Amino acid sequence: MDAHNGQKIYAHIVGWGMAVPDGVLTNAHLEAIVETSDEWIRTRTGIRERRIASERESTTTLGLRAAQRALDVSDLQPTEIDLIIVATSTPENIFPSTASLIQHSLGAVKAGAFDLSAACSGFVYGVDMAAQAIKSGSIQTALVIGTETMTRILDWQDRGTCILFGDGAGAVVLRASAAQGGILSAVLRSDGGGSDMLGLPTVGSVDLRNAFSAVNGARPTAGLTTPSVELSSSPDARPRMYKMHMNGGEVFKFATRVITESVHQALEKAGLTMSDVSLIVPHQANQRIIQAAARALKVETDLFMSNLDRYGNTSAASIPIALCEAIEQGRIREGQNIVFVGFGGGLTWASMVVKWTGARPPEPGATTLINQQRRQISYLFARWQMRLRRLSRRWTSLFARFLPHRRKKTE
Ligand code: COA
Repeated sequence: MDAHNGQKIYAHIVGWGMAVPDGVLTNAHLEAIVETSDEWIRTRTGIRERRIASERESTTTLGLRAAQRALDVSDLQPTEIDLIIVATSTPENIFPSTASLIQHSLGAVKAGAFDLSAACSGFVYGVDMAAQAIKSGSIQTALVIGTETMTRILDWQDRGTCILFGDGAGAVVLRASAAQGGILSAVLRSDGGGSDMLGLPTVGSVDLRNAFSAVNGARPTAGLTTPSVELSSSPDARPRMYKMHMNGGEVFKFATRVITESVHQALEKAGLTMSDVSLIVPHQANQRIIQAAARALKVETDLFMSNLDRYGNTSAASIPIALCEAIEQGRIREGQNIVFVGFGGGLTWASMVVKWTGARPPEPGATTLINQQRRQISYLFARWQMRLRRLSRRWTSLFARFLPHRRKKTE
């Protein structure tokens, strides 16, 4: 239901921001790591370089920076956020969620927060979840972040995958409004039958390290397979724990098929056709995938935003990063229909149609300066609050040791 008290509510993108590490990993750097060449990578993928997080950077710090920029554009305060969704395949932990860590660092004390796992489609999934919550009247404002440190989960011996991915983050702020437009439609899909094509084995209900040793005869094998990974007795064929594995050729075919299919479906749901679309912001995986999708959709490749030559595939972060750069380049204007399309592990895929409603960064002035300072105070307070809380817990436990009556109570 898109109505609240009889009034139709729309979900608009009112803020956006991106953050990428300063570290650049060029194709030439990769030539020193695996047997590859700049020429091979450029012609097969379109990628020239990608960003790589430093030791001090993480999925949370990149996501936080992107979120802070998105809040600056929206000129809202962290306390106005009702919901934070972080789409990521490289969370800091299984729990606490990266979303909760960012929520605290922003000082978004009234927000719920959770991570969303839908691989490279995650950002579109997250925007749809947030838009639905806004349209139902349940919340007013949401922050959706796609953030990844893909270089931390790459198998640097596998030249088929390690050349493709990079690190970065992008975020949008969504806000309820009575004005028509914003998120018009979305199509979310999954096919777990293709789960072996793209994956990241990690800690879960089945520990693959045990499962693998079972295959080697160290333990009984019964019941130790996961639906996503067929265990092979050949060590070379087995996915490595904590490392991404992929069947590139199959993923390529899957991607071109679902982009075409789901873009048509999302447009139909919005009552529009391809001729109404001003820009498609696709997941940035491979320039040849974009070219094949353009051919299948019978549109010029220029209709697709592409910046993968500089960032590679940043998974859930790629669409919001491309969106930010499209806005910066003046490729998105008020009243235009734009399409997001993502695809990736799961398998998952998703398309979304957005009517851009011309939200602009606020004009610099006294009010915006005060608002910005209020945000900075919120970030600073959050940082100190965490330190003080930890310190106070340490002191409390120290005192408890010297107070016999307290000890008795807990015994
Ligand atoms: N450098 C040099 N050679 C490489 C290489 C690299 N980095 N990676 C693979 N090769 C070799 C292969 O070993 C193979 O050699 P062979 O013929 O001697 O066996 C040859 O290049 C062709 O390999 P192939 O896998 O058929 O290449 P491709 O044209 O399909 O390109 C990908 C490989 C990975 C670039 C391409 O399949 C792809 O982009 N797939 C989609 C991946 C993707 O986007 N995943 C994320 C989705 S979210």
